[in-house]
Amino acid sequence: MSTVARQIPTQDFQISRISDALGAEVVGLDLSVPLTDDAFEQLRDALQVHHLLCFRDQSNLSDEAQLAFTRRWGELEVFPEADKTKSETTVYNVANVSADGKHLGPDDNQSVYQKVNARWHTDSSYRYIPSFASIMLGVEVLPDEAKGGETEFSNMLLAYDTLSDEMKAQIEPLHMVHYYEFGRRLFSQLPPITPFEREVVPPTCHPLVRIHPDRGGRRSLFFTTNAGNEVSGMTLEEGQALHRKLASHASRAEFCYRHRWQPFDLVMWDNRVLLHRAKHYDMARYRRVFRRTTVAGAGPIVGPFTRIQQ
Ligand code: OGA
Ligand code: MN
Repeated sequence: MSTVARQIPTQDFQISRISDALGAEVVGLDLSVPLTDDAFEQLRDALQVHHLLCFRDQSNLSDEAQLAFTRRWGELEVFPEADKTKSETTVYNVANVSADGKHLGPDDNQSVYQKVNARWHTDSSYRYIPSFASIMLGVEVLPDEAKGGETEFSNMLLAYDTLSDEMKAQIEPLHMVHYYEFGRRLFSQLPPITPFEREVVPPTCHPLVRIHPDRGGRRSLFFTTNAGNEVSGMTLEEGQALHRKLASHASRAEFCYRHRWQPFDLVMWDNRVLLHRAKHYDMARYRRVFRRTTVAGAGPIVGPFTRIQQ
């Protein structure tokens, strides 16, 4: 039997840090071409260290190629919710522009859904199994002279580490209630959620302290401000007061990185350890279009009181 030499393609690219708090930029990699195993491992390690990767210049990336890249990281998250922002159930159209290219006014429901994203959150936290990572391509981004329109990220590992011992002790046993309907309460002009949505994404509770088994048990804060503000086991007022404190802590500049989008940046972020929010911009004046895919989480959130099955 003859041996055929197999050509192993190499992919040369550079990864460099983009802020003190989090994030790295990846230059020289075309994600429309399938990744070698070696390249994928480098990216996986980089995501674990930096929590966010920004791949520059991905203008060749089709929906299918973005889905294929997303699948390298795990199962796709499917969106049964009918909130009218996506073109199909695995590809989200994050935009103030309709699927057929029409610029929608700031009061159009689709634009209002974008405003829900302006509060600190982590994607799909209202599910029993929240997502692992989101992957978003900047298809139409704001021009340089426009104000706002960035996406800001905050590092919840750092946020947890810098809490006072007293606060750490207070939140140790606590859970936050996360529910999809909360976004509708913020903007009363939005239609109510459907009975189907009520059934597929019922309210759920997650520990405020998240333990990361893949980081030797390191802890982070885990909460959201767009899918609830109530803390289980506290009165509404006490829970909301604690929630406000945590939200203000998460906004501290030293945990944050604000991403100013360049056309066809593909940004991937780790929802397990980051919060993010969209910065306001003039929706009537500017078009802003992203295509988002999402990697599903591997299991429920592990907290200080979770019994881990051996
Ligand atoms: C999202 C999101 C942020 C933005 O799509 O989940 O939070 O800047 N987007 O549009
Ligand atoms: Mn989001």
